[in-house]
Amino acid sequence: MTEDELREEISADPELGTIYREASIALENAADSSAIESVRVDFLGRKGSLSALLQGIKELPQDERRRAGRLGNYLKSWLERSLEEKGNKLRRQELESTLSQQRLDITLPGRSMPYGTRHLLSRIIEEIEDIFIGMGYRVVEGPEVELDYYNFEALNTPEWHPSKSLSDTFYVDMPGGEYDDVLLRTQTSPVQIRVMETTPPPLYVISPGKAYRHDVPDATHSPMFHQVEGLAVDEDITLGDLKGTLEHFAKRMFGEDRSVRFRPHFFPFTEPSAEVDVSCNICGGTGCRVCKGTGWLEILGAGMVDPNVFEYVGYDPEAISGFAFGMGVERIALLKYGVPDIRYFFDNDLRLLGQY
Ligand code: PHE
Repeated sequence: MTEDELREEISADPELGTIYREASIALENAADSSAIESVRVDFLGRKGSLSALLQGIKELPQDERRRAGRLGNYLKSWLERSLEEKGNKLRRQELESTLSQQRLDITLPGRSMPYGTRHLLSRIIEEIEDIFIGMGYRVVEGPEVELDYYNFEALNTPEWHPSKSLSDTFYVDMPGGEYDDVLLRTQTSPVQIRVMETTPPPLYVISPGKAYRHDVPDATHSPMFHQVEGLAVDEDITLGDLKGTLEHFAKRMFGEDRSVRFRPHFFPFTEPSAEVDVSCNICGGTGCRVCKGTGWLEILGAGMVDPNVFEYVGYDPEAISGFAFGMGVERIALLKYGVPDIRYFFDNDLRLLGQY
């Protein structure tokens, strides 16, 4: 049978003919691609009239079933093809009309993407690392949750030392109360012990990281802050090496015209110990508000490693010597960039952070 003959026979059939005519009219009237979709649903969808009719074919007596099947399936494939053709035509028209209506205005300025920046503290840490890497140091890291042993005991810090007190140190409750000696490190110095425990001398390392102290936040205090620890152990390391190293560091960090001074101090793990100041860049050393009229800014603590510390890690204090230092990263950033309040570093205000 030719297509024409099939179509004639369908038209003559009371049920198929009705569907055929209805579908032809619906197709003719469909004005856009969504109308095409609803025609498809009306006739071929799960509850569509043609689907229902095709479902019914298997109920028919044998002799009618073949003829109905052939005509029904032809009607179905005709409708599918027609929907496809008309749908394509309408979609093309719709695309053309949107393209002609929505012209691109290439004179509009583009939307600029804001630049991200690295956090000021990360940049300072990187700068410090670069200066010491340039002197042959290696960068190492240690845990922020520490044992009392590494944070205090092996650093020659006796039970009675004020920095051990509950009011300065955050202690960590461990499940089951198994350990009462777990804490958030109050300084990066425990990394000294960890490195020496696992590495024989000579040793030239720095260790940047976070430290925690039970301080009330104000312009110069934050319960979480950053330090960079330094440790050099070798044969014949002297206080002169420490001074030369830190002076080089201060000039690279703050400017060649700066000078450095050492003030005697006490740390349990260094002997002798010093606090180190750099000359004030704001007033050039004559005295101002930032340096509180002294002409000097304190930037770090340092000293020669105490022989007791070497004993703890199994180094021979007769054979080697060393120096250590620890600097506050926020403090260096405050001084270098004139940021008036340490809390700005942690407020995540892009108006401040985006400047650097
Ligand atoms: N850990 C000391 C502090 O936090 C600084 C320091 C480090 C001093 C190494 C001497 C040697 O204040």
